[in-house]
Amino acid sequence: MSERATAMTEQKLTDFHEIGDLIDLYFKGKRGCLIQVLHTAQGLYGYLPQELQQYIADKLEMPFSEVSGVVTFYSFFSINPRGEHTIRVCLGTACYVRGGKKIIDHLIQKLGIEVGDTTPDRKFTFEIARCIGACGLAPALMIDDVVYRQMTPSKVDSLLATYK
Ligand code: FES
Repeated sequence: MSERATAMTEQKLTDFHEIGDLIDLYFKGKRGCLIQVLHTAQGLYGYLPQELQQYIADKLEMPFSEVSGVVTFYSFFSINPRGEHTIRVCLGTACYVRGGKKIIDHLIQKLGIEVGDTTPDRKFTFEIARCIGACGLAPALMIDDVVYRQMTPSKVDSLLATYK
């Protein structure tokens, strides 16, 4: 999420003219552009609240239910403000048997939030992943696009300290 998007999540979104202008310029009248528009909007505003979904539906002249259906279906779209960083703990089979659950329990304690939530300071969003391709060195987690292997609760603590 951009710095601008982070700042915008601090207040309720009401001004959608930027995505409106982009729709007018590049997407209006194009079939099958909804996912691209939603991606662009999420990049601009950080998340896709109901008001923004409604605005996009109106601009693209399609039913709100169609827009909200796509937003709900794809996990990479978020209807809530997200943290600056996304932590994804792997709970694929290899990570599960090698202590992934312990990492999750530790993060719940450490961050004070449940899986799927964002910390009150909007630093971290905490999610579960299913195999991130590091099975040989499980348990693994990702922060944003970086994979961290052979994690333990104390390694998690040191790692999070580097993101402060
Ligand atoms: S199961 Fe966790 S990286 Fe594959």
